[in-house]
Amino acid sequence: MELPFSESFKIKMVEPIRKSSREEREQWIKAAHYNLFNLRSDQVFIDLLTDSGTGAMSDRQWAAMMLGDESYAGASSYYNLKNAIKDILGFEYFLPTHQGRAAENVLFSALVKDGDIVPGNSHFDTTKGHIEFRKAKAIDCTIDEAFNTTLDHPFKGNLDLNKLEYELQSHPKEKIPMIIVTVTCNSSGGQPVSMKNMREVYAMAKEYGIRVIFDSARFAENAYFIKVREEGYADKSIKEIVKEMYSYADGMTMSSKKDAIVNMGGFIGLRDEELFKTASQFNIIFEGFITYGGMSGRDMNALAQGLDEGTEFNYLETRINQVAYLGSRLKEFGIPVQEPFGGHAIFIDAKRFLPHLPKEEYVAQTLAVELYKEAGIRGVEIGTLLADRDPETRENRYPALELVRLAIPRRVYTNNHMDVIAVALKNVFDRREEIKTGYHILSEAPIMRHFTVELAPTVNATCVAE
Ligand code: F0G
Repeated sequence: MELPFSESFKIKMVEPIRKSSREEREQWIKAAHYNLFNLRSDQVFIDLLTDSGTGAMSDRQWAAMMLGDESYAGASSYYNLKNAIKDILGFEYFLPTHQGRAAENVLFSALVKDGDIVPGNSHFDTTKGHIEFRKAKAIDCTIDEAFNTTLDHPFKGNLDLNKLEYELQSHPKEKIPMIIVTVTCNSSGGQPVSMKNMREVYAMAKEYGIRVIFDSARFAENAYFIKVREEGYADKSIKEIVKEMYSYADGMTMSSKKDAIVNMGGFIGLRDEELFKTASQFNIIFEGFITYGGMSGRDMNALAQGLDEGTEFNYLETRINQVAYLGSRLKEFGIPVQEPFGGHAIFIDAKRFLPHLPKEEYVAQTLAVELYKEAGIRGVEIGTLLADRDPETRENRYPALELVRLAIPRRVYTNNHMDVIAVALKNVFDRREEIKTGYHILSEAPIMRHFTVELAPTVNATCVAE
């Protein structure tokens, strides 16, 4: 008999988590104004809010922390990280930052101006926020197939080359500081970009004289999908694939909190010395001196080790199999999920889950709140709240997809936890028709409102009369 699949690690340290009653959860979520970001972590049983900074570091990473060099300038930890970035990703120049959005802030300060356009594949919200904050425009060139959750396409993160070329032709080169390729593409469901697409985007960008930057938070998961799905890569190692991926980029921004399996950190990788020098000025103002940039020496050591571990096949296979295990369980229950399953998360299609709710009542948020009430599981809305308002018209932007993301922290939960999540969702699915109304906004911030928005249940007229 063939041996079943099992994890490529064993557990050395544990952290207790606590169950709660439905009554407690109903009170807590009401007090949190139906915003899951406002809950305390001890009010959550299984936390799938994000896979960012929530992973479990390895014994080797913890050991590397003990060797951290906390010198202000020129620390050995900086050089450890510099070498890891050069060896694994191939970038000559790098700037450490405290997290991914800080890398965006520094790099975009050097590149993005009022009136620019930045084409890409469903830019992540902080990326879009940093573009719009500078009065530039993020233009989504993702393939249309990405927005049909039932369609099986191996690389739903791909850019549509016709859409991209149209943008490159419609604007002068001076107005396009870069094309951003997000690997994997978080906003379209943790979906990978194929090597072929990266190669073609890069060739087109060079034809038009425009630089390509990879938003790299989940680059290793992307490489795994290339290995298992794209012809010609099955026999290549993850590290070989990663090297080729970055041969199609002029630079990168990184949130190390994802695929480098650390709790905090980020960086920028660049080939162009001039751009590195300009960005260094912003790094010093916003983050810190260029050899630490918002990170302590021990954290840079753990990150260097994490980049190495995060690009090992056995680790990635365990990781992505667990996400797929949850996806398959949900599918067995008939729950509408984004397919194929993403690398870091399972995305539930809330419009297909609750088709009777109007889009004005925040369908995905409604489902996320129901799941919390059911079992203390915290997912996150990737829908109208996250899409925010149009900066000019201030109207709500209704995205093509209303999703609830169940992001799986790396090396943290077991498949028993995945079973609890699946059954909790099945219970909500079985009573979906009883969920008759959603939510409305009481207050919101002018930008990135989803973090702090306050909501109240939308009780319809008949309910009030009862
Ligand atoms: N780019 C992508 C694709 C991301 O998913 C994130 C963060 C960032 C950039 C920003 O990085 O958080 O280190 O500042 N995503 C987290 C998430 C927050 O939950 O998906 P950061």
